[in-house]
Amino acid sequence: MSGRFITLEGGEGAGKSSNMEWLAEQLRAAGKTVLLTREPGGTPLAESIREVLLAPSDEEMADNTELLLVFAARAQHLAEKIRPALARGEWVLCDRFVDATWAYQGAGRGLDQDAIGALEELVVATSQPDMTILFDVPVDVGMARAGKRAALDRIEQEDRAFFDRIRECYLQRADQQPGRFRVLDAGQPLEQVRAQLEPLITEMLTWP
Ligand SMILES: Nc1ncnc2c1ncn2[C@@H]1O[C@H](COP(=O)(O)OP(=O)(O)OP(=O)(O)O)[C@@H](O)[C@H]1O
Ligand SMILES: [Mg+2]
Repeated sequence: MSGRFITLEGGEGAGKSSNMEWLAEQLRAAGKTVLLTREPGGTPLAESIREVLLAPSDEEMADNTELLLVFAARAQHLAEKIRPALARGEWVLCDRFVDATWAYQGAGRGLDQDAIGALEELVVATSQPDMTILFDVPVDVGMARAGKRAALDRIEQEDRAFFDRIRECYLQRADQQPGRFRVLDAGQPLEQVRAQLEPLITEMLTWP
């Protein structure tokens, strides 16, 4: 028995969190057992790593520290939560996954692609998503939405160009991997974003 692995990607304020529970409800209504989770994090240990990753600090975090922490959290998340759930036949919905590493650490920080690729092979291996939904939104729109929240975390404090590179990278990856990616115009009102999700749900539910 093997479940399905769906990831939600996109920049800050794109609407990933706002649509996860709704998406889960649609799948549950179709009889699926759905597990909601997020990265970085998803297990107690991985959530502790998330706190280290996101906490603003006087000590600058080295780029490779950030990269290794992201993958350390992911290794734990896969071992403890994602793979066991898939093995039980559940549907796993994950708010951000390895594409976020390519976007944030790769394009955003400019980290070595070979290093990311090697870690992806080590940690993710064959546990790639069955579908990745990219919530694409202009950076200004996403930032304005996210800006309504309280304090910015360490990564949210980056400059505008950082987020432009992230959006570009996500779109490029979607272009290169059309079999796995589905791109939504997430700049639209919530109702219309959900209307765009509906055919994707239909698609998932007709998977063999
Ligand atoms: N389509 C939409 N139109 C208008 N506002 C929206 C839309 N989708 C989400 N929002 C609002 O924008 C804010 C950010 O949305 P949300 O938290 O879902 O984004 P996110 O993709 O999870 O962001 P982050 O990556 O920062 O977690 C929330 O206040 C949410 O209510
Ligand atoms: Mg969110």
